[in-house]
Amino acid sequence: MRTAEYGVERGGSPIAGGCLRIAGGHLWMEDCDVVSLAARFGTPLYLISSAQLRANCSALRSAFEQYWGAPVELLPSLKANYVLAVRKLLNEEGAGCDVFGANELRTALRAGVPASRISVNGSAKSPELLRAAVSAGATLTLDSAQELDDLFAITGEMGGIARVRLRVRPDHDALTEGSDFFPGMAIRDAAQLYKPGIEPGAAREIGRRALSNGRIELTGLMTHLGRHSADPAVWAKMAAGFGDVVAGLCEAWAPWRPRELDVGGGFPAPRDPTHPDRREAQPIERYADAIATTLRASLASGGADAAGIVLQIEPGRSLFADAGLHVSRVAHVKTQTRPVARTWVEVDTTEMFMPDLLMEHAYFRPVFASRADAPVAGTVHIAGISCTFDLIARDVAAPRVEAGDIVAFLDTGAYQDAAASNFNVLARPGTVLVSGNRARLVKRHETVEEVLGRDEPDAPDSII
Ligand SMILES: Cc1ncc(COP(=O)(O)O)c(C=O)c1O
Repeated sequence: MRTAEYGVERGGSPIAGGCLRIAGGHLWMEDCDVVSLAARFGTPLYLISSAQLRANCSALRSAFEQYWGAPVELLPSLKANYVLAVRKLLNEEGAGCDVFGANELRTALRAGVPASRISVNGSAKSPELLRAAVSAGATLTLDSAQELDDLFAITGEMGGIARVRLRVRPDHDALTEGSDFFPGMAIRDAAQLYKPGIEPGAAREIGRRALSNGRIELTGLMTHLGRHSADPAVWAKMAAGFGDVVAGLCEAWAPWRPRELDVGGGFPAPRDPTHPDRREAQPIERYADAIATTLRASLASGGADAAGIVLQIEPGRSLFADAGLHVSRVAHVKTQTRPVARTWVEVDTTEMFMPDLLMEHAYFRPVFASRADAPVAGTVHIAGISCTFDLIARDVAAPRVEAGDIVAFLDTGAYQDAAASNFNVLARPGTVLVSGNRARLVKRHETVEEVLGRDEPDAPDSII
């Protein structure tokens, strides 16, 4: 249902779909007028649609269930959006959680994620983090032999059982396709620039040691490729490589077999704001088919049976991105005639609040929310308030725009709030959760006092 609604064409450009629609000349999220939300809560502002998030949970789960044939568990990546109210909504959807580091673990627990559904990921986990995860009852996704050694010592002291999986890093020799993250580089080489994961040979030894310790319960294996490609064929190869590693480890550790296999995240969001050619992604079913069908086949060909194994997925962008809008107000419209004629629409937000514009060269399609069905009057550049280039969108076909108009940027629900910065002493925007015709400010706007709150200009010297 979700995918069919995307790509609603207006004036040749897909500007709405899913939780978004145009009515009365304005852009609406669910049954809330985005212009009214901007007036009520102030700009800049992040909006999240509850209905879209819930629909995305069920679309992801049912797509993977259809091809896996056994239960599928959603472990959305907390890093993509850690607004507590958003996370609580995912609890209602029965989702677990992938967390990275001690503070994400604290956040997930504070938001009420059941510890038994939390996977603590990340490289170089400190003994304190390992201890916190064990005492909370969360599962640890181990990244090195050192972490296992530390865990032996910790469970020896504390008693109890630690549930662990190993994060493995297949060689991915077959992934000769180019990486969207690293233009000009094959994915198999780009994947080697990414630190997490245990090579298969080392994993074999670490697992053997884990299985021989009565305080460690080895529940499964995990991998994560990341969003190198939006091509389902690449995802099939990734799954085949993971399946080969899993089958090899099952053979080495017989009669052990995994209760759960976790393929991580990295599936593109429907409009795929990070696609280098601005192409939309395939329907999520295509990725689910490529991953689940190939993983089952490669397990079978390695002599391992997938029956009854829970498949876990850790969506970030594919779950949150299109549930979010970033809303800004036009502060100035400035024109120039030389050396090029240009119209600048200067908005009250910045790439600092949509940092994937910089980190992933993303394109967040702007929609003139207060003139959503006005005819195109020309081409503009949309620029932000920081002192950098802050070119949020170039050569945008725009209606006649005036100061006070509202511009919304699509697909900003994943990572944009989570990674926003205070450059230029900018105070970060709040978040509003929309549900039908209701909306609430679930994270308030930051103040400049908070931005400067850690400074101690008159701190006394210490003699070192
Ligand atoms: C271990 C792990 N799982 C899931 C994700 C989510 O990735 P995405 O937002 O691309 O789906 C990430 C992102 O870096 C990750 O590192």
